[in-house]
Amino acid sequence: MSTSIELSNGVKMPLFGLGTWQSNAGEVAKALKIALELGYRHIDTAAAYQNEAEIGAVLKEFISSGKIKREELFITTKLFWAFNRAEDVEPQIKASLEKLGLDYIDLYLIHMPVSFKQDLSDHDTSVKIEEIWKGMEAIYEKKLAKAIGVSNFNADQIRRIQKVAKVPIHNNQIELHLYFNQQKLVDECQKQNITVTAYAPIGSPGRTDIILGKFANRFGASSNPMENEVVVRLSKKYAKTPAQILLRHLIQRNISVIPKSTNEKRLKENFEVFDFNLSPQEINELNNVPQAPRLFALEMMEGHPEDPFKNERKSA
Ligand SMILES: NC(=O)c1ccc[n+]([C@@H]2O[C@H](COP(=O)([O-])OP(=O)(O)OC[C@H]3O[C@@H](n4cnc5c(N)ncnc54)[C@H](OP(=O)(O)O)[C@@H]3O)[C@@H](O)[C@H]2O)c1
Repeated sequence: MSTSIELSNGVKMPLFGLGTWQSNAGEVAKALKIALELGYRHIDTAAAYQNEAEIGAVLKEFISSGKIKREELFITTKLFWAFNRAEDVEPQIKASLEKLGLDYIDLYLIHMPVSFKQDLSDHDTSVKIEEIWKGMEAIYEKKLAKAIGVSNFNADQIRRIQKVAKVPIHNNQIELHLYFNQQKLVDECQKQNITVTAYAPIGSPGRTDIILGKFANRFGASSNPMENEVVVRLSKKYAKTPAQILLRHLIQRNISVIPKSTNEKRLKENFEVFDFNLSPQEINELNNVPQAPRLFALEMMEGHPEDPFKNERKSA
């Protein structure tokens, strides 16, 4: 099985990447060095994670020493939601490039469809996603990013952008794991030749609340997919860990995964998912595990006209 997936513009994205949300200052450099030595080549960050500069310093070390060539790396970063305006996209990607020490980003994403005022004091309800996309197309045309995409967008928002786009969406990064398998949205994206990246692919066990001024996202308790009985059974059968079963399941669905770890043992464990195959029956069994509500309800978006989850909130 290939270890990468092709975007609609021909760019290849490794199916496996390193997540870096909640990889704190001081931790992320150490984790990234271990990951790059292990063979990780796809790194997921965001302006919001405030770790781009630390990541950039490690990339510089590996590139300048000749250990890794820039073109072997696939770096994703994201537009911060206080700058969801067409005219802000170029200065924002340039700021990320500066911190990362790069002259292009491999994949640049709109982090969320909801826009905030620059000081984060409130939503900015004046911005429509189609307008932000114009800014994304402009930086793509200037070759500041090799591919562009979105994150936390729903199917309807994807269709709206695709309708007006000169450059189509190349990737949608969404919450996706055993208990939130996103089958409908994945089908819609794959139908439109949009690759999907799964965030929280093992269920984000270490997630903590996000509080930004008056806006909050609080996580409730939830079941751990690593303890699911089908996962545990397959883990015994293949002599693989539950995390490896969860990641392999998504990869076999042609979904890219970006598990986060800052622990050497788990960084190694997570990456060892290309040496076994789940059968079609086992994939089917995992696909049919009972589903639960999303973990990342991102209440900070509630009340904004572009809230992607408003229909779910109504029915909850
Ligand atoms: N676009 C978005 O809005 C968005 C939202 C959330 C996340 N993301 C991206 O997606 C990445 C992944 O999501 P996530 O970090 O929320 O969740 P995740 O990757 O599903 O889970 C990470 C957590 O699991 C632990 N862990 C890692 N490997 C493990 C293993 N083999 N066994 C047991 N525990 C393990 C990690 O702790 P240790 O570090 O101690 O190993 C960490 O607490 C993020 O880091 C970020 O890059 C994007």
